[in-house]
Amino acid sequence: MSPSSITIDRHISPDETGDAVKLEIVRAMTAMPKMLSPKWLYDDRGSELFDQITRLVEYYPTEAERSILNEHAAEIAAITNATTVIELGSGTSDKTRTLLDAFWKNEQLELFVPFDVSDQTLVDAAEMLAERYPGLDVHAVVGDFNRHLPQIPKEGHRLVAFLGSTIGNFHVEERRAFLGALGDTLEEGEWLLLGLDLMKEVPRIIDAYHDASGVSEAFALNVINVLNREFDGNLPIDQFCHVPYWDPVEERVDSRLRVTMPMFGRFEALDLDVAFNEGEELRIEVSSKFRDEKIETELADAGFAIEQFWKADGPTEDSPPDFGVILARRV
Ligand code: SAH
Ligand code: TRP
Repeated sequence: MSPSSITIDRHISPDETGDAVKLEIVRAMTAMPKMLSPKWLYDDRGSELFDQITRLVEYYPTEAERSILNEHAAEIAAITNATTVIELGSGTSDKTRTLLDAFWKNEQLELFVPFDVSDQTLVDAAEMLAERYPGLDVHAVVGDFNRHLPQIPKEGHRLVAFLGSTIGNFHVEERRAFLGALGDTLEEGEWLLLGLDLMKEVPRIIDAYHDASGVSEAFALNVINVLNREFDGNLPIDQFCHVPYWDPVEERVDSRLRVTMPMFGRFEALDLDVAFNEGEELRIEVSSKFRDEKIETELADAGFAIEQFWKADGPTEDSPPDFGVILARRV
């Protein structure tokens, strides 16, 4: 078997601090309310903290999704016959190995494309996978899935995996735009594998974002370190606390960083002074929880037909299912 080849495309350079990015942060910090894109959570340290989150007892989505993938990986390989697997927001590609193992066993898989904003995490994952699957081509893409979907490789019969309920981190309009762009990128007959956190008892959801050991809070607060480092800032991290607020209308966790006292800071690289009033919040991410009808309609609108909708059981017999994985075909 020939050794694997790894190529890396960078659509975002490791120190992207160009004008567009600066403008993005100036806008985020002067908006009312202040609001950041969640991609800023995932520098090397943030990706490592997220990896710890996936191992918390409170954070049920990871194991629930893994159990579905374990059970149905062979079926996914058989139904899709994909020769290229693309993973958006791939992170460590930890759960994805279950899936790739099944494709590998069938000797179908030729190309794997992990796609993420987090450069080092992606490189580490690409190396791990190339070693695990000798002969597999790994073509990593450092990019933003809100902007660079048209740049994903076109070779082979493709399956795009989007796991971890990362789809829940879009706002409604962004989600529509993303699914539309994904529909436009795929050819008729190609596949989407989508992981979704499902609507359930609210306290169980909130606990997943507010664990007893404080890892979720450290993950959320790390975004202040990222901004200070990238834009030469001096925002005092110890004056923020993490507030996972439940939005009952949108059915999503709305993670915010709140200051307890009035706070002033400055980003030298942006020539920007930043002021927070007492109790003011910076919104860092939403995590939407899904109901079947809603996602079914949204997928249909983007040109996808659902082939399978698997669900993982909740904690007790009476609880609703914890998590869903949808396999859908571009029609
Ligand atoms: N798929 C993994 C990781 C989920 S966390 C799992 O299921 O556990 C979300 C991942 O998406 C992170 O790895 C983060 O770096 C990546 N991400 C967040 N915003 C992104 C963006 N705009 N473009 C590309 N990747 C992004
Ligand atoms: N994508 C993860 C999710 O929506 C991100 C996440 C997990 C998160 N825990 C968090 C974001 C705590 C902010 C704070 O589940």
